[in-house]
Amino acid sequence: MEVIVKKDYTEISKLAAKKIADVIKSKSKPVIGLATGSTPLGTYKELVNLHKDEGLDWSKVITFNLDEYVGIDPSHDQSYYYFMRENLFKSVNIKKENIHVPNGIAKDISAFCKWYEDEIIKNGGIDVQLLGIGGNGHIAFNEPGSSLGSRTRVKTLDEQTRKDNARFFKSMDEVPKYAVTMGIGTIMDARELILLANKETKADAIAKTVEGPVTAMVPATIVQMHPKATIIIDKPAAGKLSREYPEEPRIFNIK
Ligand code: PGA
Repeated sequence: MEVIVKKDYTEISKLAAKKIADVIKSKSKPVIGLATGSTPLGTYKELVNLHKDEGLDWSKVITFNLDEYVGIDPSHDQSYYYFMRENLFKSVNIKKENIHVPNGIAKDISAFCKWYEDEIIKNGGIDVQLLGIGGNGHIAFNEPGSSLGSRTRVKTLDEQTRKDNARFFKSMDEVPKYAVTMGIGTIMDARELILLANKETKADAIAKTVEGPVTAMVPATIVQMHPKATIIIDKPAAGKLSREYPEEPRIFNIK
């Protein structure tokens, strides 16, 4: 696991976008795992810029999003489908049929979850998965206590997560109680993980994730077990780490 501490949010976003762009450029059929929330917004802005300014081509890109609220229609302005369309998809040349966001209004959600897992496999697996982290250490909607081997399924949202997300809804009552989410096992199957965090509110979760023991009570700690994971954070999010971490990725140039 590589930890990179950048000076600010812009720098985090630029590095994450560069890493994703490198995967897009290096594969004939890149499969990218995407996340929602305020953390990846800057990364998406950078990726849109790379498309507009440098012609980063999304025509072959296949995407899988981590999660979606149950009971929220894709056209709802708080659905994760809507978020992705507004912040990325509508501004790049991705094909609609290559976009996968979990369906929170599927009639048979269990069947949908199985289909989603199969679809990831059918497309060759995820090359790189972008992740945010919750203040409670969740990744996607795998809340504390989630099985570390879990697959795509419905999860009940933590009260803390509902409170964190209440700012996007008119009232607490409107905040969904359930979500369809990739499991921790699903996420760990991605060939590469990039976990982003900014702000002091994430410092505690980041300290546990990077330096604490692996535990289902802090689901993000599982990232320690991944063979190719990069944690990119700003200085405030790094505030509770006990060790020093570099500002730049390691560059190996062994001939
Ligand atoms: P945030 O959410 O990016 O809005 O802080 C991250 C998460 O809960 O995974």
